[in-house]
Amino acid sequence: MRPGVTFEQLIAAKRDAREHSAEEVAHIVAAFTSGDIPDYQMAAWLMAAVLNGLSHDETVALTDAMVRSGRIVDLSAIEGVKVDKHSTGGVADATTLVVAPLVTACGAPVAKMSGRGLGHTGGTLDKLESIPGMRVELTVEQFVEQVQRVGLAVIAQSPDIDPADKRMYALRDVTATVPSIPLIVGSIISKKVASGADAIVLDVKVGSGAFMKTLAEARALASGLERTGEALGKQVHCVITGMDQPLGTAVGNALEVAEAVETLRGHGPADLTEVCLTLAAKMLVLAGRACDEDDGRSRAGQALASGAAVDAFERWVEAQGGDPRVAVDPALLPQSAVTREVRAPRDGWLAATDAESIGRAAMLAGAGRATPDDAIDPAAGLVLDVRIGDRIEKGDRVATVHAATEAHCDPAEAVLSGAFVFAEEPTCPPPLFLEE
Ligand code: URA
Repeated sequence: MRPGVTFEQLIAAKRDAREHSAEEVAHIVAAFTSGDIPDYQMAAWLMAAVLNGLSHDETVALTDAMVRSGRIVDLSAIEGVKVDKHSTGGVADATTLVVAPLVTACGAPVAKMSGRGLGHTGGTLDKLESIPGMRVELTVEQFVEQVQRVGLAVIAQSPDIDPADKRMYALRDVTATVPSIPLIVGSIISKKVASGADAIVLDVKVGSGAFMKTLAEARALASGLERTGEALGKQVHCVITGMDQPLGTAVGNALEVAEAVETLRGHGPADLTEVCLTLAAKMLVLAGRACDEDDGRSRAGQALASGAAVDAFERWVEAQGGDPRVAVDPALLPQSAVTREVRAPRDGWLAATDAESIGRAAMLAGAGRATPDDAIDPAAGLVLDVRIGDRIEKGDRVATVHAATEAHCDPAEAVLSGAFVFAEEPTCPPPLFLEE
């Protein structure tokens, strides 16, 4: 960077839509992470970046600087191409619980660091922790050892990996600077690169329950993720999937684990099974375990049918201290004290659902957090009985709320009753896959 350039000048440059050099971007990230510049200056720069954007080169420089802000996991001792998957987040996305053991059962090692849920979106770690005994706070050494021994580990992000993202995300969350494609790309790709996988399949969600509400936004995010990942030496493959209604029928931590086990046994909901088989096929191709996607799908399908996938799930759960018997007897998962059935107010065809409201209803039942420090109830959530396109008669059950008390069911039921749109005419179900 030119000597004598102040942080204020860097903020002014972005305010005036000028492009930074890679050195300037590296300085911004390093100075913020080390505490040399205060939050208010970083917040001003972030807002300028949201409003004026970052070029591809700036996004790559940002992501690279974020990776280098902390430790980079070395998985080179593990044989083969290590694959990871990531979803940009939505309501009821239990795909990791199915895809990770499925891909492992087909011979590809899966090394994954995950996050917790916030607001209407669920988090893989919360789902895993609903399994009695399951530990997600492993050291990096335990993580690598487990991938070597079991072929699969999913753990919480270690605090010394990508500390820049942790600090920047916390600031973005309270300064209205989350919705920026280059900043989201930097945040997601830096965590993936620092976690050590060689190849990544990214499921970009679009629809009422997702961050990206339109296909155009999802396309721009997918393109940014692929180009930036590849610039940093990773194989990245994006798929854009719909989130106009929750994937599967269960929304809530233990409820989604039970549904994932059903799916691993080959009896899961059709939409969840389809997305999992597709993601698994793509991961197997990237890992060099399948020659093309058809071959990957067929291998993944065989692993479901033969029981190899559910066996891999049991080995994984046991390795992380969890009770593997949940794969045989889901009643061993936490169970809610109260259930309440929600019924259709009228006849009609289900034309649309507000997936974000369904996620919020599950949160109000106790399944999610409004703030990062809130406790969650692992048994709480809801199970849907209807999908877009279904014919429904007045009084049919549309969902069942699971909660600790009747008082938790009341707000969940109130939000849920506004989440279904009925029409006089039949509606086609929305597509699961929008684009690759
Ligand atoms: N998910 C992330 O990990 N980071 C973002 O900025 C947005 C979604």
